[in-house]
Amino acid sequence: MESLKFSINPARLPKHIAIIMDGNGRWAKGQGQDRLFGHYHGVESVRDTVEACAELGVGYLTLYAFSTENWERPVQEVSGLMELLVDTIRKEVPTLNKNNIRLHVIGNTSMLPEKTMSVLNEAIRETAANTGLNLVMALSYSSRWEMGEAAKQLGMDVKAGRLDPGTIDQDCFQKYLCTRNFPDPELMIRTSGEHRISNFLLYQLAYAELYFTPVLWPDFRKEDLYKAILDFQTRERRFGKTSEQLG
Ligand code: IPE
Ligand code: IPE
Ligand code: MG
Repeated sequence: MESLKFSINPARLPKHIAIIMDGNGRWAKGQGQDRLFGHYHGVESVRDTVEACAELGVGYLTLYAFSTENWERPVQEVSGLMELLVDTIRKEVPTLNKNNIRLHVIGNTSMLPEKTMSVLNEAIRETAANTGLNLVMALSYSSRWEMGEAAKQLGMDVKAGRLDPGTIDQDCFQKYLCTRNFPDPELMIRTSGEHRISNFLLYQLAYAELYFTPVLWPDFRKEDLYKAILDFQTRERRFGKTSEQLG
């Protein structure tokens, strides 16, 4: 079968794709395995998706890898995930550089183990000069945490006399979010058949097109991504206007 890639209109690519990578646990359970087995296999899907975005020329890809709520999972799963993260990032840096991909991280990284943080910082530094795909890993991230932090920082800036509260508007607020340097996602994909946002980019997804697929994350491959992009390209994005106004 010919790849769906060739049906994609390159002039109408989403500039920023955000993905809630869900279903690793169920995938593992389906094979009679431990949840971590699912997470290990999810890495292959990350590789495939990142490569597909880089090949297509997508500007930004944000991957929700670990939420602030995920810290509540069993200790063994959390530590397994952290180890997997360190291992994967370390191994993938040469590939990121080869493909001109720049790594960013958003989230409450102060909660991450020191080892994880230092490996991440090194990878961020080593890929900082790359000019292709921006790969944003949401780690220990949640939207409500992010907005709480933004409110705190805004308050401190007002108190210190650096900011006139009368000037606070959407543009100003946006600069206090972790995503200040990234455009809003245009396409949000969630795998595993769940139809919810789970505290992911609540503010930034205001006008994103949402795409849900029953495919479990470890099964997600390039063709699944192409399918989502093709679906995106059939949508009429009105941003509150009428169809006629769009011309
Ligand atoms: C997504 O898969 C990965 C993380 C949240 C870290 P899950 O681990 O949530 O898998 P399910 O949803 O339980 O199947
Ligand atoms: C969302 O998945 C977080 C990530 C994919 C990292 P969850 O599996 O944690 O979300 P819920 O609990 O089903 O809403
Ligand atoms: Mg889940």
